[in-house]
Amino acid sequence: MKLTQLISTLVLSASVFILPSSVSANGGAELQSANIDIHNQASLQRGAKYFVNYCQGCHSLKFSRYNRIALDMGLTNDQVIENLIFTRDVKGNPTKVGNLMTNALDKEAAAKWFGAPPPDLSLVGRSRSADWIYTYLNSFYADPSRPMGVNNLVFPNVGMPHVLAGLQGLATLHEAKADEHGDAHHAAAPTLSIEEPGSLTQTEYKAVTRDLTNFLVYVAEPVQLHRKTYGVWVLLFLGIFFIFAYLLKKEYWKDVH
Ligand code: HEC
Repeated sequence: MKLTQLISTLVLSASVFILPSSVSANGGAELQSANIDIHNQASLQRGAKYFVNYCQGCHSLKFSRYNRIALDMGLTNDQVIENLIFTRDVKGNPTKVGNLMTNALDKEAAAKWFGAPPPDLSLVGRSRSADWIYTYLNSFYADPSRPMGVNNLVFPNVGMPHVLAGLQGLATLHEAKADEHGDAHHAAAPTLSIEEPGSLTQTEYKAVTRDLTNFLVYVAEPVQLHRKTYGVWVLLFLGIFFIFAYLLKKEYWKDVH
C-alpha cells in the first residue's frame, strides 16, 4: 500500500468516529436534557407500558420481541401477556409472547391520514438522541393551521397528532421576540405554556416522557444493559495480565545486558 493510500484510509476510518452519530435536526429549538437511566427497571417497565398503550397503535418495534424485553425488565411471560400485548398481527391472529412487536396498521392508509407513515421506532433511540425524543414529546403545541391541530418545536410541521394531550394538556406557543437591538441571533427561543391542562401535572407528564424515552433508548440497543459490565471485567483482566507480562519480561531480559 502506498503512503498516500495509507493516509487516506486512516483519515476515512477516523472520520467514522468524528462524524456525529445521531441526526441532530431539531428545528433550531434547544434540546432539553432527558436525564434517563437505562438500569432503572421500574422506569423501563413503565416506559414499555406507555409505549404499548399510547404509541404501538401507530409505531412498531419490529426488531424487538415481547419476551426479550420481558427478560431484560425482570417480567414473567404471563405478566407480559396480561399487561403489554394488545395487538394482533396483520392477519388478525392473536400475538404470542415470542412475536416481534409489530402492529396491524396499514402503512399506505396511514401515510394518507398523517401525511407520512408512522416510522418503526426500533432504532429511533440511536438515530435521534435521548434528549431529542424527550424534547420532542415535550414540544407539541396548538396550531390550528395544521391538519392535526398541533405542531412541534423540534419537528416543524410534524404529521403525528399529540397523542399524549390527554395527559399533558395542550400548550400555547409564545413566539420569540427579537431583543432591543433587533438582533435575531440573540432573540430568545420561543416558549410554550400549558393553558389547557391535562390529567397530569407538568412534573408527572415529564416523568412519563422520561420513562418513554428511557424505554426507546433501551430498545434501540438492548445489549447496552450488559456491555459496560463486560468492559469493566475486560479492563480488570488486562490490568492483572499486565503485571504477569511485566514480570515475565523482567525475567527474560535480566541476563541480556
Ligand atoms: C396516530 C398515530 C401515532 C401515534 C399513536 C403515535 N405516533 Fe409518533 N408519529 C406518527 C407519525 C405519522 C409520525 C411521522 C411524522 C412525520 O414524518 O411528519 C410520527 C413520528 C414520531 C417520531 C419521530 C420519528 C423520526 O425519527 O422521525 C417519534 C420519536 C414518535 N413518533 C414517537 C411516538 C411516541 C413515543 C408515541 C407514543 C407516546 C407516538 N409516537 C404515538 C404517528 C403516531
